[in-house]
Parts: sequence; C-alpha cells; structure tokens
Amino acid sequence: MSIIKVFAPAKVNLTLHVTGQRKDGYHLLDSLVAFADVGDRVTVMPAPAPRFEVTGPRADGVPTDNTNLVARAAALFGIPVHILLSKHLPASAGIGGGSSDAAATLLALSDLTGDTKLPEGATELGADVRVCLMRQAARMRGIGEDVIPYHDLPPLFAVLANPGIAVSTPAVFAALATKTNPPMPKKLPKGLKTRGFIDWLATQRNDLEAPAIDAAPVIASVLQALSSLPGARLARMSGSGATCFALFDTEKAAQDAARGLSARQPDWWVEPVRLS
Ligand code: C5P
Repeated sequence: MSIIKVFAPAKVNLTLHVTGQRKDGYHLLDSLVAFADVGDRVTVMPAPAPRFEVTGPRADGVPTDNTNLVARAAALFGIPVHILLSKHLPASAGIGGGSSDAAATLLALSDLTGDTKLPEGATELGADVRVCLMRQAARMRGIGEDVIPYHDLPPLFAVLANPGIAVSTPAVFAALATKTNPPMPKKLPKGLKTRGFIDWLATQRNDLEAPAIDAAPVIASVLQALSSLPGARLARMSGSGATCFALFDTEKAAQDAARGLSARQPDWWVEPVRLS
C-alpha cells in the first residue's frame, strides 16, 4: 500500500510590506519568504473511508474536523484517504502552519493520485498556500498569488521564538494604521553574502509588527529578547505574529543563542533553524 509522507516547513516572512488594500478587503503585500528546516509532517494513505488524525507535540487544540485546512485540501481530490498530521509548529503563529500543512497535503495527494494538476480551489485554501507549494525562498506579491522564486538567498541561520499566544491574522490586518506603505525595491539584492544580506534586510520591514504588538504586547518582549541575544544581527516578526525571528551570521551562533533563550524562557517555543 502506498504511504506518502511530506514535510510541511515553517514559512518565515523575512520582510512583509503592506502596499495597499483591495476592494474586497484583502491586503496587497510585497514579502520575501523563506522556509525553515523545522515543520509539521503530513502522512497520507488510501483508506476505505476518510479519516483525519492529529498527533505530535503541538497537537493540542488543533481542529480535527473539516475546518482544518488539511481536511479541506484532501477533500478537493474526492477520494477517501487516511491522513496523519504530526504537529510540531505552533498554530496561528505567523509561520504558515495551516497553509504549509495544506500545501503538503496537496503535494501528497497529487503524488498518491498521479494528478499533476491541482484541483480547483487548491490555492484559495489560504493566501500562503501558493508560496508553501513552492517550498523555496520567494518574493510574494498581490495577496499571495504572484510568487517568484528568489535564488539569491545566502545561508541564513535564525532563532524562531513564539511566546505561546495565538494571534488573529484578520484582527492584525484590520488594526493596521496605514494600508499603503512602500514596496521593497523593484530589484532584490543579488550575490550578497550572509552579513551583507542581513544588513540589507535590516533596511526593510514587517508592517504588521506595530498592530500585532498593539493586539499582543508580549510580541515586543519577544523582539527585545531576540535582539539582545549574543550575535543577533536583526530581530523581526514573521507574518502577523506572534512568532519572531533573529538572524545570525553562523549556525553555531544561532544554536548557542537558542539554548540561552530556551533556558530563560522555558515556556516559549524556541527553535534554531536554517532558512532556505
Ligand atoms: O488567507 P488566510 O487565511 O491566510 O488569511 C486570513 C485573513 O487575513 C483573511 O481573511 C484576511 O482578513 C486577512 N488577510 C488580508 N490580506 C492578505 C492575507 C490575509 O487581509 N493578503
């Protein structure tokens, strides 16, 4: 029997510029997205009737009914399957857990069915599903439908930190004071090494930081804790929060810093990662 396993990596918005708002309320973005080497795992196998189970260290509170994007993604294929979602990423955390899980489910079912074309409605499951299907660094514009791979990401080492509070993405977007902010430069950097690339990232923004901090002031403490870690070059929030990241010049610096932060904040989710 075929059993398909697909990794669902955490998505990190290295930048997130909100450049406008559409008439339907969705916000226009210009975001540089990368993927971490931590994530959830989706396992799919043929079954006589649909079955969906959630396990893993972050399974608590994850819906197992058809409100879950994984179940909705699988239903688009119209065949019964047994799906096991092993949850390692915090939910509603700004690192695309739901979208990445949905994308992994779509990839697994494509593999299982041999359908190379995605079913109708697949990319409408969530704004980040398209970039999560790509699973490599990319510039994302529009509301997420315009995704171009970015091949110039140097080796990047980060610490991800989440204080354990769920943030509502619609509420953060709604609280944004200015909807029309400058985009990233038309041409993104080419050929920069790690240090220079982090210097460039520092000139860019996540426009959702201020409204997210208003909604959840602990995010300011997370950013402060990350930026004061030894060797941290830049601290920023991902997506609509609450997960934030700090970037380091070396893998060892990120690993040492993550150990220190975990010891001081045992209740936070803290992971040293490589981004690509
Ligand atoms: O599509 P997704 O479920 O990721 O988005 C959640 C909510 O976040 C949307 O319903 C919308 O309120 C808001 N959003 C937005 N503009 C985007 C993405 C999301 O306003 N580009």
